[in-house]
Amino acid sequence: MDSTDQPTDSLDGAATSADTNASRRRFLAGLGVGGVILGAPAVAAAQTQRGDGRRDRDGRRGSDRHDGGRLPDLNQGLDPTPVAPTQPVLAPNDGVNRFVRIFDGPVFAEPSDELTEALVEVGRPGGIMDANDPLEVGPIRLIAEPELSPNNRDNPTHTAGSTFIGQFLDHDITSDAGSPLGVPLPESASQNLRSARFDLDSVYGGGPDVSPHLYHDGRDRYGQFRIESGGLFEDLPRAVDGSAIVAEARNDENLIISGLQVAFLSFHNAMLRDLAPRQGNRREAFFLAQRTVRWHYQWLILHQFLPQYVGQAMVDDVLSRGRQFYTSPIAQIPLEFQTAAYRFGHSMIRPSYRANLAGDNGEPFFALVFDLGELGKPDPDDLTGRHRAPRRFIGWQTFFDFADGEVKPNKRVDTSISTPMFNLPTSTISSPSGQPLGPLSLPTRNLLRHTTWQLPSGQYIAQQMGTDPLATADLADIGGILGSLATSTPLWFYILREADIFSGGLHLGPVGGRLVAEVFIGLLQNDPMSFLNAAPGWTPTLPSRTGEFRMADLLTVAGVDPISRGQ
Ligand code: HEM
Repeated sequence: MDSTDQPTDSLDGAATSADTNASRRRFLAGLGVGGVILGAPAVAAAQTQRGDGRRDRDGRRGSDRHDGGRLPDLNQGLDPTPVAPTQPVLAPNDGVNRFVRIFDGPVFAEPSDELTEALVEVGRPGGIMDANDPLEVGPIRLIAEPELSPNNRDNPTHTAGSTFIGQFLDHDITSDAGSPLGVPLPESASQNLRSARFDLDSVYGGGPDVSPHLYHDGRDRYGQFRIESGGLFEDLPRAVDGSAIVAEARNDENLIISGLQVAFLSFHNAMLRDLAPRQGNRREAFFLAQRTVRWHYQWLILHQFLPQYVGQAMVDDVLSRGRQFYTSPIAQIPLEFQTAAYRFGHSMIRPSYRANLAGDNGEPFFALVFDLGELGKPDPDDLTGRHRAPRRFIGWQTFFDFADGEVKPNKRVDTSISTPMFNLPTSTISSPSGQPLGPLSLPTRNLLRHTTWQLPSGQYIAQQMGTDPLATADLADIGGILGSLATSTPLWFYILREADIFSGGLHLGPVGGRLVAEVFIGLLQNDPMSFLNAAPGWTPTLPSRTGEFRMADLLTVAGVDPISRGQ
C-alpha cells in the first residue's frame, strides 16, 4: 500500500495540557539550541462519538435531489479517448516529489541563537503578530461584533470558505515529509509527499486499485468513494479510533476541511452515478468522473480562488505575459511558495465560525476554530477535526455565496493573525519521528522554517522581481525585535505586510501575489492532464447559478448545499 495513502496522524495527538507558557529556554532547547529536548506533552486519546448509523450509502438523506437524478452531459464535446482504462491515476515520478528553489539569493539572516529567539518573539502569543482577539467573549460575538477585534479586520472581498479551499489546495500539492524546525538543511533533505499537481491525489489516493480502502467494495460500485454519516449528514469514513480513512490525513484537521474533503467525495460519486449507466466499462466511467471533477476544480482555482488571493490583474499578467520567475517545465513546489508565500492563508483564518445554521439541536453551531479547553472531549465545543457527532457537519452558506444573505467574510491578508493560531492543538502538528513537536504557535513555526530552508529575504526577492522593496519604516515593528529584520525580512512576514500596504489586506501584493500566481498557473501548465493542456478550450459542463461556475455550484452538484440539507 502506498504509504502516503495511510492516515499518518492519530487521535493520540490531543494534548492534555497545552503548554502555552512553555519557557523559551525549553523551546530553544527543543530546537537543538540548548541541551533539553522539548517533547510532545503526554497525550490522551480523544474518543469519538459515533453517529447513529448511516442515512443512505453516501450519508445523505434519501430525499436529496441529486440522488439517482441525471445531470446534464458532463463531457459534451469531449473526445473520451484520452481516458484509457489503463491510464495511471498518479503521474509518473518525474521528480515532482522534490522541493526546489526559485531564487538562489543569500539567506535573510545567518542562523544563531539570537535569530531563533527573535523569530520566536515575533511569533509568540501576545506578540506583534497576535491579533489579540478577545476569545473570552465567545464565538458568536467575535463574528457579529467585528469592532471587538480591531486588529483583525474582515475582508469583504473573500468569503469565509476561501480560507479552507486554500488549505485544501495546499494539501493537494505540498506536504513536507519532515524537515526539522529551525535547523538549516539543503532542499534535497526533505520530500514532498503529495504530487505537485492540482490532481486531487489528496482525495483519490492511488485510485480504487491502489487505495481500495477509500472505495466501496464490489464490481457494481467500482470507483465509488466510501462516505459515512455523522448522525445528521455525511461524514468521512472513520476507523474505530475515530481517525478518518482518507488519502490525506491533514484533511481531517478541522471540521471545515473535513467537510470539504467529504464534499469532494460526494462530488465524485455524483459524477460517477451519472456517468456509469452511460459507460459500458466501469473503469472508464471512473476515469471520466475523475477527470470531470478535476477539471471543474481546476477551473475554480483559476477563475474563482486565484483571483481572490492575488488580484485579477496579476492572474491576467501571468497568463498573458507568461511566468517570469517560476519557469520550471516540471511541476515541483518551490520553497519560497511552500514556506512563505502560500502560507499567507494563515492570515485569513477567523478566530471563530458558524459551522452550520441548525445542526446543534435545531440551533446554529458556533465555535472557536480551536479551543484547548475542549481537548479530549468526544464532541468538543470547537472546530477540531477527528470527531464524529450529529452537529459536526458544515452548513456551506456561511462559507460560500449561495445568494441567500448568509455568507460571512474572511479575515484580511496582513500580519495580524487570529489568536487561536498561537496555541495549536498538538493534533494539528507533526514532526519527523523522534523529533520534538516544537512550538504550538503557527506563526513561530512558519518563521523558523525560513531558517530551515535558508530563504532569501522579501527585500531580495522584490529586487529580483524589479519592484521597489518595502521601506524600513513599514517594517519597524519586526525591526524593533531584531534590527536587521527590518531590512532583511523573513519572506512570510514580508508578503503579509506587503499585502496590507499594497491592497489594504484584500489580497496579496506584488511579491507574494506573483509567487502564488506563477506557481499555481505553472502547476496547471506543467500538468499534461490539466484542462489547460488536455483541452485548452474546455469550459465547465455543470450547471451554475450565475452563468459562471462557482464553488457553490460544485457543492450543489455534490448534494451538500443548504437546499439539499433543508437548512
Ligand atoms: C485552520 C486552518 C489552518 C491550520 C490549523 C494550519 C496549520 C498548519 C500547520 C500546523 C502547518 C505546519 C507548520 C510547520 O510545522 O511548518 C501548516 C503548513 C502549511 N500551511 Fe497551513 N494551516 C491552516 C490553513 C492554511 C491555509 C488557508 C493555507 C493557504 C491558503 C495554508 C498553507 C500552508 C502551507 C503551504 C503549509 C506548508 C505545507 C507543507 O508543504 O508541508 N494553511 N499549516
